[in-house]
Amino acid sequence: MAIIAPSLLSADFGNLASSIEMVNKSDADWLHIDVMDGVFVPNISFGFPVLDYVKKLSTKPLDVHLMIVDPMKFVKEVKNSNAYLMNIHYEVSTHLHRSIQQIKEAGMKAAVTLNPHTPVSLLQDVVEDLDMILLMSVNPGFGGQKFIPNTVNKVAELKELILKKGSSALIEVDGGINLETGKLVIDAGADALVAGNFVFKSENPIETIAALKSL
Ligand code: DX5
Ligand code: ZN
Repeated sequence: MAIIAPSLLSADFGNLASSIEMVNKSDADWLHIDVMDGVFVPNISFGFPVLDYVKKLSTKPLDVHLMIVDPMKFVKEVKNSNAYLMNIHYEVSTHLHRSIQQIKEAGMKAAVTLNPHTPVSLLQDVVEDLDMILLMSVNPGFGGQKFIPNTVNKVAELKELILKKGSSALIEVDGGINLETGKLVIDAGADALVAGNFVFKSENPIETIAALKSL
């Protein structure tokens, strides 16, 4: 059974509390939080003042995905927002090994996110240090985009690398996930699925989460 992380980005921001309560009541494992800065990605979502509110309401561990150019500047803020996982992008990390250690020292699980164009092989010397790798299956910045099919090959390649290195890192996939694409990546070796629009725009989000969970 996969780990399911509904993405709050697709929730109704006018009713955040009820969206979070819905996730609390559901079979979801984590709540996925997309922080954007308008520089690394062409969109701005929400920041730490909103997360202060989310952390009070969510009973699910927070999977915080930072789409920002300088994530290490905010390790303390991310920790204070009760993050279980801190995901930073490979593409902004000059000293990735050091960043991974700093995230762990701060008491969070360390995850690295790869954009669709970034090869999995670039992680071969840090894969043992990671708790999770998040593969983007859309270009980050927006919910509701179409799944990029090559992600399935990347999941399989990453799974092979993880096994070869004896790493315990999980594989998470984010973007355009529904029952069909979710099944494809799980069969290729994914452990965790992020789903935004597919959950929050569905008629019965609790049932949609349960359907993803049973893939
Ligand atoms: C995109 C975000 C995703 C997004 C997924 O930049 O990282 O987490 O919310 O949304 P869907 O599932 O609608 O593609
Ligand atoms: Zn995300």
